[in-house]
Amino acid sequence: MLAEPSAPGADLLEVALLAAREAVRLIHDERPASLEVSTKSSATDHVTQMDLRAEEAIRSVLGDRRPGDAVLGEEHGGAIDPTGITWVVDPIDGTTNYLYDHPGYAVSVAAWDGGSPLVGVVADPTHDRTYFAVAGQGAWCASPADRARGPAGIQRLAIGGPAPLDRMLVATGFGYDSDRRAAQGRVAAALLPHVRDIRRMGAAALDLCSVGAGRVDAYYEAGLSVWDLAAGRLVATEAGAALEAIEGGPPRPGSILAAHPERIGDLRRLLVDCGVLSTVEGAD
Ligand code: IPD
Repeated sequence: MLAEPSAPGADLLEVALLAAREAVRLIHDERPASLEVSTKSSATDHVTQMDLRAEEAIRSVLGDRRPGDAVLGEEHGGAIDPTGITWVVDPIDGTTNYLYDHPGYAVSVAAWDGGSPLVGVVADPTHDRTYFAVAGQGAWCASPADRARGPAGIQRLAIGGPAPLDRMLVATGFGYDSDRRAAQGRVAAALLPHVRDIRRMGAAALDLCSVGAGRVDAYYEAGLSVWDLAAGRLVATEAGAALEAIEGGPPRPGSILAAHPERIGDLRRLLVDCGVLSTVEGAD
């Protein structure tokens, strides 16, 4: 079991869990009766005062506990330090769900070493689940109220078995730009007759954790930002998923496909037949 205090990454994991807990306390436990909403890249891309406050709370924990590290956050910016630790933070992934008080938004906190994820925490307060992973050591989900899962509700994650395409439950998401959305909608319509079903849950970090937990068989999306997937991709990988760009090669925010290692090739071919490359910048 992870989190031996001396295990590599254990100190970073403790800080990531603490920072995520502070943000959850604000956005969920102390959710205000009314939200102040403004728009960002498009009329459907929102930010609330709680996104801003939650990122400030996370930055305050990081400033106290890891003052020398870089921070890159969705709301307050920053940059990846290619030579050291960078905290990549999405204070609320699934802001639209949050706005509607719809279950399925998350706080995402990752520690990257140079360009690669070392620790990832994704806290989903509406389902009482905190996913966490450390590179090379596995992925877990803590759900304190769910004692059936084991002591303190902590369970090691493993992806589902290699489902054939027509029995795959496939998660995806849609960006905020309306042209990209239209193209993503056409791909989803073409894909639907060939798979078990499609899920659009509304938070990329949780989509990736759902692959890790075997709650969906695969996930793909084009046009994310680094903070959407910084923690979730480590959870999925450490639970046994293969992660690649949709067009092949290493995964990147602009293009991500996660699936069982034995099925990712079949799914890519199907997605390409469905026109997915029209949604990926630089791939068609
Ligand atoms: C969004 C969510 C959504 C995905 C979008 C993201 P946000 O992030 O992850 O599921 O489809 O592409 O932008 O804006 O809620 O942090």
